Amino acid sequence: MFDLSLEVLKVVEEAAIASARTMGVGDAEIADQAAVESMRQSLDTIDINGTIVIGEGERDEAPMLYIGEKVGAGKANGAALHVDIAVDPLEGTNLCATGGPGAITVLAASEKGGLLHAPDCYMEKIIVGPMSKGAVDLDAPVKHNLKAIARRLQRGVDDLVVVVLDRPRHKQLIADIREAGARIRLISDGDLSAGIAAAVSGTGVHAVMGSGGAPEGVLAAAALRCLNGEILGRLVVKDAGQAERMKSMGIQDPKRIYTTKDLAPGKQLVFAAAGVTDGQLLKGVRFFGDGIRTQSIVMTSSPARVHFIDTVYPENRPDVKVRFR
Ligand code: FBP
Repeated sequence: MFDLSLEVLKVVEEAAIASARTMGVGDAEIADQAAVESMRQSLDTIDINGTIVIGEGERDEAPMLYIGEKVGAGKANGAALHVDIAVDPLEGTNLCATGGPGAITVLAASEKGGLLHAPDCYMEKIIVGPMSKGAVDLDAPVKHNLKAIARRLQRGVDDLVVVVLDRPRHKQLIADIREAGARIRLISDGDLSAGIAAAVSGTGVHAVMGSGGAPEGVLAAAALRCLNGEILGRLVVKDAGQAERMKSMGIQDPKRIYTTKDLAPGKQLVFAAAGVTDGQLLKGVRFFGDGIRTQSIVMTSSPARVHFIDTVYPENRPDVKVRFR
């Protein structure tokens, strides 16, 4: 696959700018819509024959970026590069609506079949960075996993920070982490950006535990493939309807534990995210009178590259100034 880094960078940056304009408006739907519309438009400028495999939902529930939707300037051209695309146009819609930390825009792409078509359900997850890869087990008691991570990171369990979504369903998990002695950062939303942060040393995040969206799990896996981190995930089946839906999607064993490579098996993965509001890893969009500044991460699995990118969109004026940072 040719290098799509710059193209996908533009897609996430523009979506971040569009949604950041709605920051604090107090309406998560408006924020999401701004990101979706922008992403949809900019995807159509890329010369690919793209298929959305993870998006805003099924065709009947999403007017844009629905699963199965064709995108890209080459969508009607059988000869154009076929690409599977997973998007979370605005991860942390409530965070953007309230100006809370860590909202990002996200896109992953791969050759056909390189990203699991995950149903829109929850996924139990454990996410760790490169040093703790292979040390954790989704079925092991929490304290065992924390001890194993601490050993790999050569520190005490009490020096670990575990990110957990602040939800009633995590009551027992939180109690177990506390009992093991690790520190916890409870977040109101955004386990995908926390998952990426867990694989980047220096962010102060050592693991993410608990259940969050399965689509976010696939996107996290694409990022973790590029960062050498690990996610283990198991789908959570809520009811018979969801079990039926999984069956129709070809999921034979709903209890299966998916590894990073099961979730994002692509040989040529591209992952891009841009900050909307300030977070652990990325600064949010800044509007500074003379222009706009965005911060993004763009990664490819092969060749292995991780780009941290600052982009300035200067105003079109002769006296415009660009600052170093
Ligand atoms: P949205 O951006 O779609 O609102 O999702 C935010 C999020 O917090 C994800 O990061 C997480 O995986 C999921 O929602 C958790 O779902 P729930 O809010 O139902 O617990």
